[in-house]
Amino acid sequence: MAIPKSFIETLRLSSDVEAIVSSYVKLKRQGRNLVGLCPFHSEKTPSMVVYPDTQSFFCFGCGAGGDVISFIMRIENLDYVEAVRFLAQRAGLTVPEGQAEDRLSQIKPVILEINRLAAHFYHHILRSADGNAGLQYFTERGLTPQTMVKYGLGYAPPGWNTLRDYLRAKGFSFEQMYDAGVVNRGREGSYYDSFRNRVIFPIVDLRKNVIGFGGRVLDDSKPKYLNTNDTPVFKKSRNLFSLNFAKNHAEKRLILAEGYMDVIAVNQAGFENVVATLGTALTPEQARLISSYTKEVVIAYDSDGAGRKATDRAVGLLEEAGITAKILTMRGAKDPDEFIKKFGAQRFRMLLEDAGSVTAYQLGVIREKYNLDTPEGKSTFLTEAVRYLATVHSAMEREVYAGELSAQTGVLRETVLSNIELERKKNFRRDKKKEWAGIASSQDLYRDRVNPQKATNLREAKAEEGILAFLFKNPDHLTGILSRITESDFVTDFNRMLFFGMIRRIQGGEELTLSGFAEELSPEQMSRLAEIVNRDLPMSEEILSDYIHILKDAPLRNLSRHVAEMSGDELLDAVERLRQKKK
Ligand code: GTP
Ligand code: MN
Repeated sequence: MAIPKSFIETLRLSSDVEAIVSSYVKLKRQGRNLVGLCPFHSEKTPSMVVYPDTQSFFCFGCGAGGDVISFIMRIENLDYVEAVRFLAQRAGLTVPEGQAEDRLSQIKPVILEINRLAAHFYHHILRSADGNAGLQYFTERGLTPQTMVKYGLGYAPPGWNTLRDYLRAKGFSFEQMYDAGVVNRGREGSYYDSFRNRVIFPIVDLRKNVIGFGGRVLDDSKPKYLNTNDTPVFKKSRNLFSLNFAKNHAEKRLILAEGYMDVIAVNQAGFENVVATLGTALTPEQARLISSYTKEVVIAYDSDGAGRKATDRAVGLLEEAGITAKILTMRGAKDPDEFIKKFGAQRFRMLLEDAGSVTAYQLGVIREKYNLDTPEGKSTFLTEAVRYLATVHSAMEREVYAGELSAQTGVLRETVLSNIELERKKNFRRDKKKEWAGIASSQDLYRDRVNPQKATNLREAKAEEGILAFLFKNPDHLTGILSRITESDFVTDFNRMLFFGMIRRIQGGEELTLSGFAEELSPEQMSRLAEIVNRDLPMSEEILSDYIHILKDAPLRNLSRHVAEMSGDELLDAVERLRQKKK
């Protein structure tokens, strides 16, 4: 066991579930519990409940649940040990070092050191005679020497072993270099440089560690960019290029660009507050990361079709993270890099000031598709624009843009508005239907991966869950319960495992908490446990007795159900088993 139970207990007591969850999600009190919008799926009406009594949470929409550690695992995208560390740091506690983490905690500093040396190496080459090709490339793209130094840009020479041999001479093993991602492994176990004949963009985190690299070809060959694969120190989905510079300029908004060269060009033009994702689309984790620095983002993606799609996606994620997105529209250039080169920093600043609301942008995109000089053009444009405006949350915004649509088409503002309202009603009904369908399919009988036997033993599984909920809240009743029922009376394996787990803990003198299970259950299993123990059902001795009866009678019921299909031997077998049970 990597982390002692006693430490988890201390951690649990100092990491109140309500305090932790509410630092991510706005919670409203509802009786003993709290509710909020679930951060793990997209929803407009709150279906996540936080239960201070059991120090747990459960979402009735998507089925995510568990204790405070499960919450951090999900929202910060960490594994169990990392989540424990995260919470410990927050609470000012030190995690006792265990055996299992030793390798990881040893390899991380090694990787960081390899990365630091590699970045130096590439940068040094760029500034030497061997780096002419790279230097020329960056210079032609308009970068100044100061910018190259500021970003620590580099050049990876064409040779297959240059960096490898350099690091070997520094005493690192090929496996360590491979763990850092700076070399690849060939057939026959040979190792060679991952980046060859590419200009290099080091990726630096907030603590100034070099955590990975991007590398671009000098010509039109493919792939244009290579990025370090995820390593123990580098998760693409959780970092942003240039955040180390942007974070110091918490000007009230952040510029989000598509690529390395855009960020560097914008930064060089005097705007420090610019970041980009690392060769992938924006992720929810990155949106949350951004939200801890700013509440307003200007999206400055490419003006092509792919850029538009990426913009749509980013807008959704940013808004879910509570960030207002504005969209920068460029004409005469395909991306910010090109725009600044063509028109200069001053014009880019004007573009920034001019960045429009998402609504204006979306209506503009729709409008471009139609010819408003014809009646059909007008009416199909209106239909689509109304459908879009119906999804806008702010009533004020809907009114304002209804006015604009009216001016553009000559249709009365009131008519536009009443059509928007009609559309909203339709959407509302559809969403409700979808929500119910979602609930039914995600967490009920269908595709129940946590407890696959539940679908065919629904009555018994529900009784088992009732018993588990009762026992969790009344551990002192264990002896009474065990005198009437044992593990072997449980029908579904998953619930039996939980029952056994609770018995073991109670008999071992442990307090029953969700966190006590967190290490041995998967996130999905934790979700189910949270659901079970927080069931909002009346609990009494009488109801408990009903549950116990259901389980006691189960073999009999199952027998009569199947008896017609049994062979003689099977029948005898079943009767024998039944007799054993009744004893
Ligand atoms: P330049 O051509 O250097 O101006 O690059 P750009 O930033 O304009 O490139 P583009 O718009 O094509 O790509 C934007 C970002 O997507 C880049 O900065 C990379 O992070 C990523 N990207 C582009 N091409 C590739 C590729 O071939 N592989 C991977 N993994 N990422 C890529
Ligand atoms: Mn470009």
